[in-house]
Amino acid sequence: MESLSGDIEEVLFSQEQIAQVVGELGARITDDYAGKNPLLISVLRGGVVFMSDLVRRIDLPIALDFMAIASYGPETRDMGVVQVIKDLDDAITDKDVIIVEDVIDTGLTLNYLMTNLKARRPRSLSVCALLDRTVRRIADIEVKYKGFDLPDVFVVGYGLDFKEQYRNLPFVGILKESAYGDDDLDSV
Ligand code: PRP
Repeated sequence: MESLSGDIEEVLFSQEQIAQVVGELGARITDDYAGKNPLLISVLRGGVVFMSDLVRRIDLPIALDFMAIASYGPETRDMGVVQVIKDLDDAITDKDVIIVEDVIDTGLTLNYLMTNLKARRPRSLSVCALLDRTVRRIADIEVKYKGFDLPDVFVVGYGLDFKEQYRNLPFVGILKESAYGDDDLDSV
């Protein structure tokens, strides 16, 4: 059987490039939140790989929490219709919250999430995303901490999946056509 990385056509962001950018983001957050105890919220599932590396590059007392969101399918997702299927464990009132995402595409997930979280009255709310694919953006999102701009290509690895596979690749890469066959990548 071929190795997982054998399904990759091209590495877009290497393990080393990602580590450097994650270190830079962690240092910026450490500076910006000096004297504070930020709460980092990861959106399951893809965001956890980035989150787990990022927190180890932040030299501050932090807390973690997790949310899971489901869309009702690609059509409804494009209308921003999503549902919280796992809520935060703790209240965020008066906390300095940073939402950590692996990738922002349309921005609809984050738009929904930010409206939802703002209603809980955090002291501050910002966004940290490893990958930003602005060509597909529908909702206007301010991404304070951004790793890489992503062109309009389907990528996997470092948390991103194709049918739940490839999340554990240490880099971000483009899948070989043979790995996804006849599947329509816009629907996954
Ligand atoms: C990805 C990503 C964001 C969302 C961004 O999650 O983690 O949550 O898509 O897309 P948007 O900007 O178009 O709303 P996905 O739905 O692939 O779930 P996963 O994290 O479980 O892979």
